[in-house]
Amino acid sequence: MAFKLATRLVAWQRQHGRHDLPWQNTKDPYRVWLSEIMLQQTQVAAVVPYYQRFMDRFPDVEALACAPAEDVMSLWAGLGYYARARNLHACARSVMQDWGGRFPPDAKRLATLPGIGPSTAAAIASFCYAERIAILDGNVKRVFARYFAIEGDVTTKPVEQSLWKQATDALPTAIQLKRDPDIMTAYTQGLMDLGATLCTKHQPACLTCPIKKDCQAHIQGRTRELPWPRARKTTPERTTGMLIACHQGRILLEKRPESGIWGGLWSLPEVQSDTPVEQYCDRFGLKAKQTHSLTPFQHVFTHFRLTIFPVIAYLGSNRFTKSQIATRTDRLEWITVKDLHTLGLPAPVRKLLKGLLTDNMLG
Ligand code: ADE
Repeated sequence: MAFKLATRLVAWQRQHGRHDLPWQNTKDPYRVWLSEIMLQQTQVAAVVPYYQRFMDRFPDVEALACAPAEDVMSLWAGLGYYARARNLHACARSVMQDWGGRFPPDAKRLATLPGIGPSTAAAIASFCYAERIAILDGNVKRVFARYFAIEGDVTTKPVEQSLWKQATDALPTAIQLKRDPDIMTAYTQGLMDLGATLCTKHQPACLTCPIKKDCQAHIQGRTRELPWPRARKTTPERTTGMLIACHQGRILLEKRPESGIWGGLWSLPEVQSDTPVEQYCDRFGLKAKQTHSLTPFQHVFTHFRLTIFPVIAYLGSNRFTKSQIATRTDRLEWITVKDLHTLGLPAPVRKLLKGLLTDNMLG
């Protein structure tokens, strides 16, 4: 049975799967690793331009390891989940320092590096080293939960464990691998392609699916109910005020602390959202000639929703007057509007500033 799944999937991948993505047709673990990290929680179409810019700027692991963190963050800005970028840099450094510039040679040791979980390690090892090892990312969980009609929330430990077991049992056999040394690449990519293109969350294309004959969800007419939806907690809401202080073609930005949301990126200085509009500038010891509140908007993170209350202020001077904010001024900087695109800005801040720039409102 498992034998059938692998055989059918591999044949399908070779005929109908994706073969021309920029990180395919290589066994270079650096290229594959970079793509796999970018593709975590992010769609192929969004990743492609970032991947190409990264490869141009950092053609190998040494170039990435030697780069200033600032450059890595600024090239990553907009892809989201910034812990990935910090781990990416830490991983490149570890490969240089602890592994002599070569990625570890198997999934087990790959998974000891920063940002590389068991599924990412398995993807790299199966693509680059033909290792017989199972992947299990979100899409692949859905494929197996349907194929084997696995009940329960796939994000919970016991269900995950049973999925890992099924995924391991379903691998091409050692004999298949011996006869066909490229089989792991086709198999792993086949699972990813099937999950992304046919076995989608809503309205899966079962008619054209290569493994429908033995898919328990399909046989039982239960593709709609499997996998179980995740037990939802309501997403918490947070609010923040953001100051857009403008002075002679410059605006005030604050570098975020390295850890936490938007870690290491340049953002707008923040105040508590219940701060009266007239007091946004006071919080930074700045004097405004004019202030206006702009339309609030929401940004959605994985774990919470952030409502942003932006206030734009035009200043007579860019000097800070109060000593109590001295502790923050080392993170605050006046940036020329023309230079904004060179910095790593959080996506909602970039969008907000771009809109204001287009409307000629940045002074
Ligand atoms: N998602 C994760 N890894 C991928 C890959 N190698 N190709 C396409 N989508 C992916």
